[in-house]
Amino acid sequence: MSPVIFSGIQPTGRKHLGNYIGAITQYVAGQDRGDPAIYCIVDLHATTVAYDPAELRDRVHDTTAVLLAAGLDPERCILFRQGDVAEHTELCWLLTSVTALGELNRMHQFREKSSAQRELISAGLLLYPVLQAADVLAYRAHEVPVGEDQREHLELMRNIAERFNGRFGEGTLVVPEHRIPPVGARVRDLQEPERKMSTTGGSEQGTVYLLDDPATIRRKFKRAVTDSDDPPVLRRSDDKAGVTNLIEILAAVRGVAPSFVEAELAGARGYGDLKAAVGDAVVDELAPLQDRYRQLRAQEQALEDVLAAGAGKARAIAAATLADVREAMGVGPPQPPPTG
Ligand code: TYM
Repeated sequence: MSPVIFSGIQPTGRKHLGNYIGAITQYVAGQDRGDPAIYCIVDLHATTVAYDPAELRDRVHDTTAVLLAAGLDPERCILFRQGDVAEHTELCWLLTSVTALGELNRMHQFREKSSAQRELISAGLLLYPVLQAADVLAYRAHEVPVGEDQREHLELMRNIAERFNGRFGEGTLVVPEHRIPPVGARVRDLQEPERKMSTTGGSEQGTVYLLDDPATIRRKFKRAVTDSDDPPVLRRSDDKAGVTNLIEILAAVRGVAPSFVEAELAGARGYGDLKAAVGDAVVDELAPLQDRYRQLRAQEQALEDVLAAGAGKARAIAAATLADVREAMGVGPPQPPPTG
C-alpha cells in the first residue's frame, strides 16, 4: 500500500542546504511513492515569533518557488499554504485536550526559541508542536520526511495521536512515523560545525543558502572550518565534525555513500581538495534550481494558483478527518448516520 506522506516547511526566502538535503530532496522523492504526497508551507507557524506581516506572503511565494524549482510537481503532489485550510487550526485546538503542558514545556525548540525572543514569548510558540501535530494528523499521514531537528516534535505528535485514539476511539487518527534520512539529516554550520546549519541560529558565513551565487557558495566552502590533523585525515569521525559534515554534504549531493567519497579522497593532498570538490558539487546541483527559481518567482499569480489548487485538494482530505474527530469527541452536531 502506498503511504500518505506529509511534511511542512517554514516560509522564508532563505532556505539553506540543510533544508534541501535533509528535507526538500526527500519531498521530491516522495512524490512518486506517496498516495498522496502532501507538502505544506506553514505560514501560521511563522506567526509564533516576531515577524513582519507585510512580508509574510512574499516569503510564502519565495518558498513555493523554491520547492517547485527543486522539483515538486503540483500534478504529482499536493502543495499548499497552511493558512488556507482552517481545519489545521481547529484540529490544533481539539488536540490540546490530549496534550500535556509539561510535554510542551520540555521541547528543546521551545526552550531555544523562547530564550531568543526579545519582547514577547507568545503562547503560540508553546503550542507550535500541537499545530505541527494537527498538520500531519489531519491527513492521517503515515510518513513524515524531516531532518533530525524535528525528531522530538515527531515523538510528541505520535504521543498525541496515541492518546487521542485511546481516549476517543482507536483508529480515529493514524500514528505517523518520521522519515529521517540516513545521510544529511543534520547538516552542520560550516563555521561552527558543532551546531546545525540554520537560518536563525547559525553563522552567515557558515550557512549556504540555496539562492547564494556560485562564487559565494565556493567561498563559504573554501573557508569551512575543518581541523588541524597533520597529515589531514579525510574520514568521518565523531571528533571531526567539520570534515564529517563536508564528506556527508558531498555524498548527499552526489547521491553516493559517504564511504565512497572517503575512498575517492584517499589520495587527496589536503582538506583544500575536499572543500573545492564540495563547493563545485553544490554549485552544480543548485545552478538549475536557481534558474528555475528566477523564472517561477516572477509569476506571482501562477504561484497563487498552484497554492489555491493545492488547498482545495488538502481541504477535502482534512475535512473528512475533522468530521470523524468532532464526532469522536462529541463536539458540534451529531453526524448523520451512514445511509444504505
Ligand atoms: P523548517 O522550515 O525549519 O525546516 C524544514 C525542514 O528542513 C529540515 N532541516 C534540516 N535538515 C538537515 N540539516 C539541517 N541543518 C536542517 N535544518 C532544517 C527540518 O528538519 C525540516 O524537515 N517545524 C517545521 C515545519 C513543520 C512541519 C510540520 C514539519 C510544520 N508542520 C509538519 C513536518 C510536519 C520547521 O520549522 O521546519
